[in-house]
Amino acid sequence: MLAAKTTSLPELTAAEQALWLELIRQRCGLTFSDGRLRVLRLALHGRMMSRGLASCTDYYHAVSRGGNGDAEWLLLLDALLNKETSFFRHGPSFAVLRETILPELMRLRYPQGERCLHLWSAGCSTGQEAYSLAMAFAETAGARAWKARVTGSDLSLSNLERGRRGRYKPYEVRELPAVCGERYLRALGDGTVEVAAALRAAVEFRPCNLLDAATYELPPQDVIFCQNVLIYFAADDRRRIAHQLGACLRPSGCLFLGPAELVGTRLPGLEPLARNDVLVYRRNG
Ligand SMILES: C[S@@+](CC[C@H](N)C(=O)[O-])C[C@H]1O[C@@H](n2cnc3c(N)ncnc32)[C@H](O)[C@@H]1O
Repeated sequence: MLAAKTTSLPELTAAEQALWLELIRQRCGLTFSDGRLRVLRLALHGRMMSRGLASCTDYYHAVSRGGNGDAEWLLLLDALLNKETSFFRHGPSFAVLRETILPELMRLRYPQGERCLHLWSAGCSTGQEAYSLAMAFAETAGARAWKARVTGSDLSLSNLERGRRGRYKPYEVRELPAVCGERYLRALGDGTVEVAAALRAAVEFRPCNLLDAATYELPPQDVIFCQNVLIYFAADDRRRIAHQLGACLRPSGCLFLGPAELVGTRLPGLEPLARNDVLVYRRNG
């Protein structure tokens, strides 16, 4: 009988583990609880096998020598990132967006005759959150003469590429309300669906490392969704990034975080709006 060839996950000494955790946190903010350390070991294992390297130290040198955009770092990153997402993932946040925030913003904004809202999905994974913002806007605007510019940003270039293509498998669109499926998706012959061209045209996918949010060049935003991203970051990085995202808002613009991401935290210049199960802040002014 043939025995399957198995290779065990790399054992990391405490010092090696500390070096990896520091490098990863510095470059992208991710931290690993004890329960998630296996994700790190699996990712290292996969990449070391692909490179034909047996020593974690050699692999560390290969990754740390290059910079943030280095090809090997980007491949390791792809193995480390949790990309889980879905359309309208946190229903209560999208309900508040549609029922309260977007109608209010449409009453408020009249800049030089151009009625355009800017919405940003920061940490958009493979695009579903950015397209959900575009759909929520289109459904709310209806026949009104408003348009939206939606930005989807992520650290992972492969995620962004999938977002740009806008093609999803049936199970990835199963939660989408039927009316949105009919209006904004079209079936392709191979069983997948594609986001309608008009909606894709309203969404731009661009790389952004949230650690650099303060210097990211975008026009002032009306709505920012940053959900299920900061949850993996250290508390001080979370606060700093949430604060920087708040500074990217126009007055009265709103920042939506995941419900458990920064509960009870005060952010300068932002007022928390009391909403059950929804963590939303409005920029003062
Ligand atoms: C779990 S997904 C959440 C996707 C979406 N926001 C949602 O709620 O469904 C987390 C995303 O955050 C991205 N991410 C992690 N660290 C990041 C960073 N430093 N800068 C930008 N994006 C990051 C990952 O690539 C991944 O796509």
